[in-house]
Amino acid sequence: MLKVIATGKGGVGKTTTISTLATMFSREGEKVLVFDTDPSMNLAMTLGLPYLEVPTITGNKKEINHELDEMDEDAMEVGRSILENYSRLNSDGIRVVVMGAIPEEGNGCLCSAISIVKILLNYLESDECPERYGLVIVDSQAGPEILGRGLAKDFDFNMILTEPTPKSAEVSKQVAGLARNLGVENNLLVVNKSEYPEDVARMASLIGLPPEDAVRVRYDHSVIDADRNSQCLLDAYPGCDAVADIKIIKNRLQKAAERFQCASSQYI
Ligand SMILES: Nc1ncnc2c1ncn2[C@@H]1O[C@H](COP(=O)(O)OP(=O)(O)OP(=O)(O)O)[C@@H](O)[C@H]1O
Ligand SMILES: [Mg+2]
Repeated sequence: MLKVIATGKGGVGKTTTISTLATMFSREGEKVLVFDTDPSMNLAMTLGLPYLEVPTITGNKKEINHELDEMDEDAMEVGRSILENYSRLNSDGIRVVVMGAIPEEGNGCLCSAISIVKILLNYLESDECPERYGLVIVDSQAGPEILGRGLAKDFDFNMILTEPTPKSAEVSKQVAGLARNLGVENNLLVVNKSEYPEDVARMASLIGLPPEDAVRVRYDHSVIDADRNSQCLLDAYPGCDAVADIKIIKNRLQKAAERFQCASSQYI
C-alpha cells in the first residue's frame, strides 16, 4: 500500500491534485482511500460527496473512543469499525474518510484523532482487513502544523505542493524538513499553477530539493472553471494542461510504488 501525504501552504492546490490523482488511479482499477485531515473538509465535496454526508472522526470521537475502551483497546477492531462506520464511497469507488473540524477547546485536541488515523492505517495494512488498498492519500491541513503532530510518520511520500512564489517555498521548506525528521524519505515537489517551465528548478532550489524530485503543473483556467461549477476536472476537461501534468505525477507515483514493491493488488 503506497501512502502519500500531501502538504503545503493554504490554497496551493492540494485538494484539487489529490482528488484528480485519486480519480485517475481508481478508474484504472486501483483501490484508493483518501483521508481528509483538513478541518475545512473540502476533499469529500471535491470528490462529489455532499458536505456533511460523510461522518467525521472528530464528530464521532466520543463514540470511537468509547469503542476503543469497550474493545479492550483492540486497535484492529477499531480500525475495522472506522472503515465500516465512518467512511463513504464516492461514485468512482474511492473510499473517503474525513477527520473533521478541530474540536472545541476542552474537548480534546487533534492528537487523539491523529492516533485514530494511525489505527486505521495499521488496520488497512494488516491481514485482518479484507480489502487490499493500493493507495492511501492524506490531504493535510495547510501549513506545517499537522506534520509537527507526527501524522506523516510512516508515509512513503511527502507530496509537497507549492505555488511558484518564495512565500509558498518557505512553508514547503519547513514541511520538507519536518517530514524528513519524521523519516519520510521520499519527496515529490509539485510546483502548481506554474506559468514558466523554469519555475521547477527555481522552486526546487529555494526549497532545497533536487530538481529531479520536482514536477510542474501548469496554471490552467480549466481547473478554476471546474471548481466554480463543482465539476470533476477529469470529466469536464479531460484534455486540459493540468490533467496532462497530473498524469505525470500519477506515473511518477506508480513507478515509485513498483520500486518500493508495495504490497498491493497492482503494485506487487
Ligand atoms: N493548476 C491550477 N491552475 C489554476 N488554478 C488552480 C490550479 N490548481 C488549483 N487551482 C485553484 O486554486 C485554488 C485552491 O486549490 P485547492 O483548494 O486545491 O488548494 P488547497 O491547497 O487544497 O487549499 P486549502 O489549503 O485551502 O485546502 C482553487 O480555486 C483551485 O481551483
Ligand atoms: Mg484543500
